[in-house]
Amino acid sequence: MALRNIRTDNDPILRKISKEVGEVSPRMVTLVEDMFETMYHAQGVGLAAPQIGILRRLIVLDDYEGNKYSMFNPEIISGEGCQTGPEGCLSVPGRQGTVERKNSIRVKYMDINGNSCELEAEGFLARIIQHEIDHLNGILYTDIATELFTLEELEEMENKKERQKEVVS
Ligand code: NI
Repeated sequence: MALRNIRTDNDPILRKISKEVGEVSPRMVTLVEDMFETMYHAQGVGLAAPQIGILRRLIVLDDYEGNKYSMFNPEIISGEGCQTGPEGCLSVPGRQGTVERKNSIRVKYMDINGNSCELEAEGFLARIIQHEIDHLNGILYTDIATELFTLEELEEMENKKERQKEVVS
């Protein structure tokens, strides 16, 4: 396993559309392991392959509440309701924002064994998945945030304990 370098800010690779994965090759398995290692090292809850410079449709995530997934070619097939909450991104250091997402989603994907799977997710887990899938389409949360904050503004708010549990991924 190896740590990968996380692309940030204006790196053009973050704006590209990632390609579908045909089959889970040994190289892809190594990539999943490296992405988890990189995500945990950065204390994120999710990571998408383009964030480490690889334009393939692959995300990994762990909500630290027992939900840990790697998903190839994830696709949201239905969504309901609305949630509003804080998000950050390992590719956009020093900022946080408020983002509206679907509250519950059904996502289909291929797992690391090449099996076709479906998952129903809601709340925080659904938020992580939506944030990561956006990365596969070159979308950053800053594009769709209703509010954006700098570190200084956040520190002030943290003193007032106004922030909810945040996605950093
Ligand atoms: Ni992100």
